Amino acid sequence: MASIDQDHRAADRLRGISGTIFSEMSALAVRTGALNLGQGFPDRDGPESVVEAAVQALRGGRNQYAPGPGVPELRDAVVAHQTRQYGLDLDADRHVLVTTGATEAIAAALLALVNPGDEVVVLEPYYDSYTAMIQMAGGIRRPVTLRAPDFRLDADELRAAVSDRTSVLLLNSPHNPTGTVLDRTELEVVAEVAREHDLVVVTDEVYEHLVFDGGEHVPFATLPGMFERTVSISSSGKTFSFTGWKIGWVTGPEALVRTVQAAKQWLTFTSGAPLQPAIAHALANESAYYEALAKELEVKRDFLCDGLRRLDMDVYLPQSTYFVTTDVSRYGYADGLEFCLALPERAGVVAIPSQFFYDDVEEGRHKVRWAFCKEQEVLEEGVRRLLAADLRA
Ligand SMILES: Cc1ncc(COP(=O)(O)O)c(C=O)c1O
Repeated sequence: MASIDQDHRAADRLRGISGTIFSEMSALAVRTGALNLGQGFPDRDGPESVVEAAVQALRGGRNQYAPGPGVPELRDAVVAHQTRQYGLDLDADRHVLVTTGATEAIAAALLALVNPGDEVVVLEPYYDSYTAMIQMAGGIRRPVTLRAPDFRLDADELRAAVSDRTSVLLLNSPHNPTGTVLDRTELEVVAEVAREHDLVVVTDEVYEHLVFDGGEHVPFATLPGMFERTVSISSSGKTFSFTGWKIGWVTGPEALVRTVQAAKQWLTFTSGAPLQPAIAHALANESAYYEALAKELEVKRDFLCDGLRRLDMDVYLPQSTYFVTTDVSRYGYADGLEFCLALPERAGVVAIPSQFFYDDVEEGRHKVRWAFCKEQEVLEEGVRRLLAADLRA
């Protein structure tokens, strides 16, 4: 990957931060004409009624700056969603902030809550914006590894990662890339630790609706006493298959939401004015869409996992998200990157080496992530190509 370190003019806060592996591998897919089972975007757009609502807003004079906290109808829709889904009682004026996707919410939360030198405890493998933003905020990451084959949260590892320098615990559940959905017992341990050390918990829940096998996503903020110390983040990208719209939101107690807004206002101030009412429409009217999407993804997960199991790799069945993780060590490559760089030529398929999402080099070395949020024909062709190829080093 092209590293910023090559440019001596780059500020220290960017040292070691490279281009995202997702862009890199997507470019490789385009260059080689390979099927892209790498980056997590669906092949098909979300509901037509939501597109129509955006067109109406575009034609209806919604094209100037939206209010900083977000348009009122979207904040109302987020509140109604949190009440309906999780029984949370929020106020649209005090407890909700609309953001430019979950990505900006994560950036703003970390810039707002982390002082230089503070430690941020984060689950690994991590979503790569976390490491970049912890560094840009001047923080130090303290990973807690979710280990194969089950990728569960180990209470002792969590306790060992927290110190008196920790200010934020950054959770991601449902978890990308492992597909782990933290259960109540695991979340209660997090709550205990947060209470003991007086931590703010930032939770990234963008896959909240894409849980399989009848499983349950428990928002951390619903645990007793936790709302007051939690910044909850979600987004419409995955829920409604509009990843390019970048409409996300933060919910939490007023003081924390205002603190995050203080940083957010100087990043974009506001964005997506005509898309915000369309997502309000989606949250209010299209719950059937994401319920059906979760069922469809579950079938696709099973299809891709069955195909991958016929290869010489360990396949870890995910409980949620768009992704399945595998271990490719038996193919004889030095690491997952080498495997993924050979894959387009060998099989005409692109996948993502997960090693970039780990500090624990050995745990991540041979892990490879595959996306199943693709059309069935694409998955079928991908599996057919992989089965026909010689993948050995
Ligand atoms: C865990 C996680 N958080 C955040 C995001 C980004 O969300 P958004 O597109 O709303 O910025 C993604 C996208 O892949 C993700 O997987």
